[in-house]
Amino acid sequence: MNKICETQLNFDSSCFRSDIEQAVDWLARYGSDPAGGITRLLYSSSWQEAQAVLAQRMMASGLKTQFDDCGNLYGRLEGGGLAKEVILTGSHVDTVQNGGKYDGAYGILAGLIALEFLYEHFGTPLRTLEVVSLCEEEGSRFPLTYWGSGNLTGRYSTVNPPDIKDENGVTLQSAMHAAGFGLGAFPSPKRTDITRFIELHIEQGFVLEKERIGIGIVNGIVGQRRYTVHVKGCANHAGTTPMKYRSDALLGACEMIECIEQMSSSRSDPFVSTVGQFHVKPNSSNVIPGEVAFTIDIRDANAGTLQDFSAEFLDSFSRIAARRGLTVDVDEWMNMPPVLMNESMNQTLASICHRRNLSYRSMYSGAGHDAQVIGSVSPTTMLFVPSLGGVSHSPKEYSDAEDLAKGIAVLAEWLYIYGYTDSN
Ligand code: HGY
Ligand code: MN
Ligand code: MN
Repeated sequence: MNKICETQLNFDSSCFRSDIEQAVDWLARYGSDPAGGITRLLYSSSWQEAQAVLAQRMMASGLKTQFDDCGNLYGRLEGGGLAKEVILTGSHVDTVQNGGKYDGAYGILAGLIALEFLYEHFGTPLRTLEVVSLCEEEGSRFPLTYWGSGNLTGRYSTVNPPDIKDENGVTLQSAMHAAGFGLGAFPSPKRTDITRFIELHIEQGFVLEKERIGIGIVNGIVGQRRYTVHVKGCANHAGTTPMKYRSDALLGACEMIECIEQMSSSRSDPFVSTVGQFHVKPNSSNVIPGEVAFTIDIRDANAGTLQDFSAEFLDSFSRIAARRGLTVDVDEWMNMPPVLMNESMNQTLASICHRRNLSYRSMYSGAGHDAQVIGSVSPTTMLFVPSLGGVSHSPKEYSDAEDLAKGIAVLAEWLYIYGYTDSN
């Protein structure tokens, strides 16, 4: 990097502080719920409002603004010499139910602020820089995750969306069409021109805070599998059915969940398992439960560990069901392999942190991210800033504005190096 630019890059990160603080609160208005959290589900009205105001903000910043046909929103800073090479940054605009205001939103807003800053200070880049607000990552409305980055990489297609429904029986396709997407009105979501992707995100864990480190450089993202387990027995009268004649779906499900906990205790970090959802039918106090559905979320850095764990629990569940006169059906609706981030792009992050005198460490991500999907087709890197108390997916999610600003400074410098110079 030439000397002049290096001095120009010696801007202080605090120049981003008030921008990001205001931007996070501004976007949080769209989907804020009475419980104090944020609920912005794919194609919902709050989702549509958020994407619309983000599009306005991108246009106001002078970015060429474009939706694709699944609802991803792009802001483009056209490159001069090597315009066909696109360097992308961004994250997801959807949230979990009653989630926080930083998860996903921070990566979009930081990208927007970084592009505004770079254009103001350095003008037109050599390569094209884009920021994306990806339409969905969480899997919080439909039993499917990464709908946005999955369409970008071709893992999914709006032409032939999976036949899945939300809790109110609304299909993904009808929700998409009702929001104006999937009808061919926008360019096809599949991108083949993304030469690099960087995602800035809150850590959602407590390592950085505990170790008082400002920047986490992600060397890899764990693999993830999610299942819905359907256990069926026989609903019957709670008073007239002797214990030995029962096929109680709930007791069978509890034994299965206990088996998951017991199997997990013999695995080592970063392996984790979670049973997050549990539904009982008919769910009344004087009826033996006839049906239970529960979810399982397992994660690990090693694909083989996930494979072995799933084979083991499937075998245990069928034995438990047989012994209890139940049937069990396991629907695997998510299977994401672990993905390593790009070593040399991570090295650039480390040298920026070093140059800016920022504490940093490399770390694995236990949370899934769009970087995991895009990283399977384009060189990708990811960085974290600390989360207060490691809390996330909660209204209590919080990251200090100074930390958020430092993340943007590193992002802006990284985008400068790959977007404006030929030093790579
Ligand atoms: O669940 C996750 O890992 C991510 O926050 N969607
Ligand atoms: Mn999340
Ligand atoms: Mn996220």
